[in-house]
Amino acid sequence: MRILNRRFGLLMVAAFGCVFAGGCKPLPPSKPAALWSPEEARGAQVYQAYCAKCHYPTTTRGMKGPGLQAITKVKAMPSGAPPTDERLTATILRGRGMMPATQLTDDQLQDLLAYLHSL
Ligand code: HEC
Repeated sequence: MRILNRRFGLLMVAAFGCVFAGGCKPLPPSKPAALWSPEEARGAQVYQAYCAKCHYPTTTRGMKGPGLQAITKVKAMPSGAPPTDERLTATILRGRGMMPATQLTDDQLQDLLAYLHSL
C-alpha cells in the first residue's frame, strides 16, 4: 500500500511537471504546405526572408530565438505574453530584447500573421 502511494505520488509529480512545463503535451499539428491559402503561402515567403535565420517554424527548439511551432496556439509565448496578433505585431515591428525590429508593409505583416497562425 505504501509503495503504491509513493508510486502514485511520483506519477502526480510527473503529471504536474508536464502540465506546468508544457513539455509532454503534444502541440497541435501545423497546417501542411499543400493546404496553405495564398495569404499563408506569401507569409511563408516573408518568414523565409525575415525570420527563418533566427527561428525554426516546425519545432519549439530554439535557434537564435525560440522555435515558433504552434506559437499562436499556446497560452503564452516564451516571454509569458499571450500570442495575440497585437502582441505578435508589436514584437515583429518593434523587436524585443535581442530580436531586431523588422520593417514590413501592412500586406507583408498580414500575410506573415496568417502564416504564423498555420504553424
Ligand atoms: C536576429 C534574430 C531574430 C530575427 C531575425 C527574428 N527574431 Fe524573433 N526572436 C529573436 C530572439 C533572440 C527572441 C527572444 C527575445 C526575448 O524574449 O528577449 C525572439 C522572440 C520572438 C518571439 C517570442 C516573443 C515572446 O513574447 O516571447 C516571436 C513570436 C518572434 N520572435 C517572432 C519573430 C518573427 C515573426 C520574425 C520575423 C519577422 C522574427 N521573430 C525575427 C530573434 C530573432
